[in-house]
Amino acid sequence: MAVIARKGSPLVREIREKQSMGKSRQRFWELAGSKLGHILGVERTAEQVGAGADQGDAGFREELKFSQHLEGKAEAASDFARSKSLSDQRQYLPIYAARDDLLGVVRENQVVVVVGETGSGKTTQLTQYLHEDGYTRTGLVGCTQPRRVAAMSVARRVSEEMGTALGDETGYAIRFEDVTSPNTKIKYMTDGVLLCETLKDADLDRYRVIIMDEAHERSLDTDVLFGILKKVVACRRDFKLIVTSATLNAEKFSKFFGGAPVFHIPGRTFPVNIIFSKTPWEDYVEAAVKQAIAIHMTSGPGDILIFMTGQEEIETACYALAERMVQIVSSSSKAVPKLSILPIYSQLPADLQAKIFQKAEEGTRKCIVATNIAETSLTVDGIFYVIDTGYGKMKVYNPRMGMDALQVFPCSRAAADQRAGRAGRTGPGTCYRLFTESAYQNEMLPNPVPEIQRTNLGNVVLLLKSLNVENLLDFDFMDPPPQENILNSMYQLWLLGALNNVGGLTSLGCKMVEFPLDPCLAKMLLMGKELGCVEEVLTIVSMLSVPSVFFRPKDRAEESDAAREKFFVPESDHLTLLNVYLQWESNQYRSDWCNDHFLHVKGLQKAREVRSQLLDILKTLKIPLSSCRMEWDVVRKAICSAYFQNTARLKGVREYVNCQHGTPCHLHPSSALYGLGYTPDYIVYHELVLTKKEYMQCVSAVDPQWLAELAPMFFSVKEGDTSFLDRRRWHDEEKTAMEEEMEKLRQEQAEATSRE
Ligand code: CDP
Ligand code: MG
Repeated sequence: MAVIARKGSPLVREIREKQSMGKSRQRFWELAGSKLGHILGVERTAEQVGAGADQGDAGFREELKFSQHLEGKAEAASDFARSKSLSDQRQYLPIYAARDDLLGVVRENQVVVVVGETGSGKTTQLTQYLHEDGYTRTGLVGCTQPRRVAAMSVARRVSEEMGTALGDETGYAIRFEDVTSPNTKIKYMTDGVLLCETLKDADLDRYRVIIMDEAHERSLDTDVLFGILKKVVACRRDFKLIVTSATLNAEKFSKFFGGAPVFHIPGRTFPVNIIFSKTPWEDYVEAAVKQAIAIHMTSGPGDILIFMTGQEEIETACYALAERMVQIVSSSSKAVPKLSILPIYSQLPADLQAKIFQKAEEGTRKCIVATNIAETSLTVDGIFYVIDTGYGKMKVYNPRMGMDALQVFPCSRAAADQRAGRAGRTGPGTCYRLFTESAYQNEMLPNPVPEIQRTNLGNVVLLLKSLNVENLLDFDFMDPPPQENILNSMYQLWLLGALNNVGGLTSLGCKMVEFPLDPCLAKMLLMGKELGCVEEVLTIVSMLSVPSVFFRPKDRAEESDAAREKFFVPESDHLTLLNVYLQWESNQYRSDWCNDHFLHVKGLQKAREVRSQLLDILKTLKIPLSSCRMEWDVVRKAICSAYFQNTARLKGVREYVNCQHGTPCHLHPSSALYGLGYTPDYIVYHELVLTKKEYMQCVSAVDPQWLAELAPMFFSVKEGDTSFLDRRRWHDEEKTAMEEEMEKLRQEQAEATSRE
C-alpha cells in the first residue's frame, strides 16, 4: 500500500498542459523533430524541424516504432566499450592498483569493509577478482544491490568484460526475473532476492562470498540482511562477507561486525567547484533546465548530470531541454553545439538505460537527467558538470494510516556531497546547487534516515518470523526501527490472519511468506484457494504487480479512453484487469492486438511472466488451479478478504471515506466505477495515490455482508447502529490489548532467559 505524493512544479504543469492541448495533434517530439535520446544541435535547421512535424503524425504507433528504433541502436552501439579494450579499461580503474592487497586482506579476514569513491570499480571488479582468485571453485560469489536497475546493468557490464553471455558465468536475479544458469559463478541480485533465499537456506550454503554492495544506502532489505548475515558469518567459517560503501561511515559497519578491517581504495578525485544559489528557486525543474542550457552554450567541454526526484520531472526536464534547443537552433545563424538528452530512472526500459553509458559522438555533449540512482549506484564517465536540485523521493511510513507514502524531501548533506563528487571523477568539475548555502547548513540532515526507520515492515516481520526470530524487538538491527512501526506492522498482519494473538506465525502466514508479494496480495491468492478462484485471482495479482498496462497518449486521450472502456467490468477495476488479460490470451498474446487496443504489450508480457512464476510457487505448495468460471462475485469476495483495511464507504458524489482511519478517498476518472449510473456503498481499493486529491487506485465494489463475514473485527451486520467513532474506539482497544499481550509475553521470555 502506498500513497504517492508529488511536489508541484509549474514547469511540469505547463508542459503537461501543452502535451494535452493537442491543437495540431502533433506530439511534442515530432514538433521538435526529435525524440528522447536524440541529438539536438547544429545539423537541424528550422526547415527540417518543420518537415519532421509534417511527416510524423501517426500517434502512438510512431512511438512504438521509435522505441524499437532505439532498441536497435542500443544493441548496435556498445561502441566505447569495444573501441577501447575492456581489459585496458579495467586496469585504469583505481581499484586495480589495490587488487593484490585487497585480496590479501580478504584471505585473512572473514569480514572486510571496503570503502572507495563511486566509480573506483567496487561493483564491477570485486566479484571478478574473487572469481580469479579461485573463490568460485567452491561456491557462488553473490553481490547484492539495493536497486534492480543496478543489478541488471552491472551484470551486463561484467559479462561483457568477461567475454561471456549474460546469464552464463555472470547473471542476475531480481524479483520475478532470474537470469542465471547452472554455470553461473558471479550472481548480482537485489538485496530482497537474497533475503528470500535465506528462507530456503538459512546458512546460504551455495555462496562462498557475499558482497553487500552499496551498504551506505541502508535500504530496508540491506539492513535486515546485516543481522542475518552476521549469524551466517558466526556459524560458517568458510563463508566470507564483504561490505562496500561509497562514503566514509564505514566505521559503523566495522563495529557491527566486531571490528572488521576497513580497506580504503586509494581514490583519484579532482576538486569540484561548488556554486550555491543566492536565493531559493521556486521551480527547481525550470531552474535546472536554464542552468543546463547556460552551461551548454557557454562552458567548455564535459557532460552534464542533473539530479531530479522522479520520472515525471525527468521527462518534463528532457522535454523542456529539447524544446529550448530547438528554439536556439532555429533562431541562431551560427552553428550550435549538439546536445544529447538522456533520461534515467528505474522504470525506464533496460535497453534505453544502457544508452547513458555510451560515449557521445565527437563534438556532442551529453546531458543526463537522473533520479538519485546516479548518486552512487551507476557511474557515468565524463561528467564535468552536476546540477543538483537538492531533492529526492523517499518512502515514509505513516503508522496511523498503516501506509507508506512516497514523498519528495530535501536530500541530506551527505547525499548532496556525493552528488557533487560525480563532477570530479575525470577532471576538475563544477557543481551547481539549486539551493542556498544556508539551506545546506541549516535545513538538510547530515545523513539520510535509514529506510528501516521510516517504512512499513509488513514483509520484514513476516520474513523474520518465519526465520524463527521470536522477538523482533530483540533482533540484531544496526539501527532498530521505531517500536511503534514494528507493532503496527504486526497488527496489520494479525488482521490479515498471518499472525496469531501472541504474535506467532499462523499457517496462513507461513504460506504467505512463500510469495514474493506484499502481504495483502499473498493473502488474496491464498483466499482464492478457499473460495475456488485461484486461476482468476492469480491473473489479477500478476496484473497488479506490473505498471499499468493501459496506454494513454496525450494527443489521443479520447480514443484510448474509449478503448479502455470496452474492457470495463462495471463494478470492479480488478475484474477489468482480469478481462484485459483474458482477452489478450484469447487473441494469442498478440502484440498487434495490444497496439490496436491501446495496451502496453511489454507490461502484459511481464504480467504473464509474473503469473507463470507465481504459478510455480502455487504448484510447490500443492495448491490446485481452481476456477469460479465467470462467477465474478466470488473473485470480488477474495479481493475483499485481502483489502478490507482499505474499505471505504460512500459519502458524497464519487467521494468515499476510509472506514478504518477516516481518510477521504476519491474515485479516479480512469476507474470503471467512475462512469457508472450508481455508486456502490462500499468499496475496497488497492492503494491511495495522492496527487491533487487522494485518489483510490484499482477499486472494487463489495457487499457489506462480506465485510461482516471476512472482517468481523471491523464490521458488524448492524452497521447502521455503530458509529464510526465506536468502531474506531473498539479498534484501538483491540490493538492495545494485542500489544499488551505481546509485551507480557516478552517479559515472560526475558524472565525465563534471565533465570537460565
Ligand atoms: O562500484 P563503483 O562505484 O566503485 O564502480 P563501478 O560501478 O564498478 O564502475 C567502474 C567503471 O565501470 C566505471 O568507470 C563505470 O563507468 C563502468 N561501468 C560501465 O561502463 N557500465 C556499467 N553498467 C557499470 C559500470
Ligand atoms: Mg558500485
